[in-house]
Amino acid sequence: MDSSEQNLAEEDAAIALLRWYADMGVDEAVAASPADLRSWGAKPPPPRQRAAAPAAASTPVFKPSEAALPADEAVTAAQKIAAGCDSFEALEAAVKEFDGCPLKAGAHNTVFADGAPGADLLVIGEAPGRDEDRLGKPFVGRAGQLLDRMLAAIGRDRAQNTLISNVIYWRPPGNRTPSQTETAICRPFVDRLIELTAPKAVLLAGGAPMQALLGVTGIMRARGVWREIETASGARYPALPIFHPAFLLRQPANKRLAWADLLTLQKRLMED
Ligand code: URA
Repeated sequence: MDSSEQNLAEEDAAIALLRWYADMGVDEAVAASPADLRSWGAKPPPPRQRAAAPAAASTPVFKPSEAALPADEAVTAAQKIAAGCDSFEALEAAVKEFDGCPLKAGAHNTVFADGAPGADLLVIGEAPGRDEDRLGKPFVGRAGQLLDRMLAAIGRDRAQNTLISNVIYWRPPGNRTPSQTETAICRPFVDRLIELTAPKAVLLAGGAPMQALLGVTGIMRARGVWREIETASGARYPALPIFHPAFLLRQPANKRLAWADLLTLQKRLMED
């Protein structure tokens, strides 16, 4: 085999490997946590001649100092900053400024909230996915479109009477489940958003926000049952767990239960 045949064989092998990864669902070249490859000291290989890649929406900016903040210091900083915010706008600016969550290093955008600040319904999901990270808004992908339809069915709409957010503001690499540390670092901001919104009801979309804010596991049994979120200041707010719309896309038979939960929510929102 001469060297050009050898190159072709290696290229075929590399393509076959990438196809296999894609078949297995590995569609992102990321690890579980962001890494600053530049700090590894190795020189990148010389660039190969290739067609120009389409420009990405934006490139995540990695600042090594941000990921280095110990978790307990990051939580304390978040608590202080969140407590000092006295409006939705101030909180949004503070979250965007905040560098204490390591997830920020690998994200394109901070995804804070979308909808009507001060609405009497606050929906809280898990974390931004690929579409949300790209656009900087929560629930804008397929799951978000289903969420919008679910809310519309009970007369709710993010432009008018609903605020939507997540328990994490930056996309975890490869959409993995956020860690407890990442959730703890964002929690003071989530609490403050709830306090500033002072909603009649918080709709918890899925098991992750339910566990993060109520300490309850097992969405199959806990959905549709009212509980209370207690924020850092001791204030309490009614919260209703419901299936995550992404789960409903995978298991549409459960939409029947989600509909019952939406009616439970609507009834509460219509009470004085
Ligand atoms: N899933 C979530 O939990 N939140 C989003 O913003 C998008 C998808």
